[in-house]
Amino acid sequence: MNPLGVSFCGSRLRNPTVLASGILGVTAAQLKRAEEGGAGAVTTKSIGPEERSGNRNPTCVALPHGLLNAMGLPSPGYEAMGEEWRQLKKMKVPVFASIYGASVDDFRRVAAYVADKKPALIELNISCPNTAEHGQAFGFEPSVAADVVEAVKEVSGRVPVSVKLTPNTHKTVAVAKACEEAGADAICAINTVSGMAINIEARKPVLSFKKGGYSGPAVKPIAVRCVYEIYEAVEIPILGVGGITTGRDAIEMMQAGASAVGIGSGVYYRGPNVFRLVCDEMREWMRGNGFASAKSLTGAAHD
Ligand SMILES: Cc1cc2nc3c(=O)[nH]c(=O)nc-3n(C[C@H](O)[C@H](O)[C@H](O)COP(=O)(O)O)c2cc1C
Repeated sequence: MNPLGVSFCGSRLRNPTVLASGILGVTAAQLKRAEEGGAGAVTTKSIGPEERSGNRNPTCVALPHGLLNAMGLPSPGYEAMGEEWRQLKKMKVPVFASIYGASVDDFRRVAAYVADKKPALIELNISCPNTAEHGQAFGFEPSVAADVVEAVKEVSGRVPVSVKLTPNTHKTVAVAKACEEAGADAICAINTVSGMAINIEARKPVLSFKKGGYSGPAVKPIAVRCVYEIYEAVEIPILGVGGITTGRDAIEMMQAGASAVGIGSGVYYRGPNVFRLVCDEMREWMRGNGFASAKSLTGAAHD
């Protein structure tokens, strides 16, 4: 038996590590690097209703304890991906398709098209802080988030739907509950934490978009707290994301309640083999601490 194997929304994952959205792009060639690096599943960069070039540079800066980015959701647009879907289908690990939209109708339209391509899961990015028009509005309000989920569930058929939540509101748990009630099959938490850095000599924000989304080791306690609270509020599985770079981090996130873990900035810190490294470290810890399966880690820190 493979002690790291887990199920997530009907997909069998060889291990619980998942490439988080936005880190390696949307093409099979890009996502393959994570597959080869040991990921149990991969998530595409968020795909939107039309082509977007994203924000002007600089769009990403490494700070002492994390990354600050405002990419602005650069995307080829869902219809332009054409042949790419065929390549994505050839991948050996499950592919999660992340999508975004500026309206409920956008989400419905993109989801209908993407569902037809039969990804393992559709992840709704209702939480990107880094664009002027595709703000976090959907992820801030439980009823608005539920509207998006309901619209997508009408067209998603048998493809499970996960909702990616923002930590930039005190309503994260309420949003998770509303999404579950609206039919969501899973929750992904968290997207980046809203932040800013200023170049004091230039007296200007470092990023062209001024504000950005903070990720990496510094956000792990925020992500762990969100996942812990969401786990107590919903029954659906959680993909825990935020600050995971080591096996210990992954185990902590699973003990908080995650069934699988997303790794984004960790690819920057440890390279595309981060998934294999994290799995090796998890296996070793589990052996020394009496956990026979990754599944048994989920929620272990709850009373
Ligand atoms: C450069 C960069 C681009 C990102 N792009 C997306 C995106 O397109 N869609 C999305 O849902 N999340 C996006 N994220 C957020 C990550 O998927 C993840 O939720 C967040 O970075 C926290 O995880 P981490 O600390 O492991 O990076 C992006 C993050 C980074 C650093």
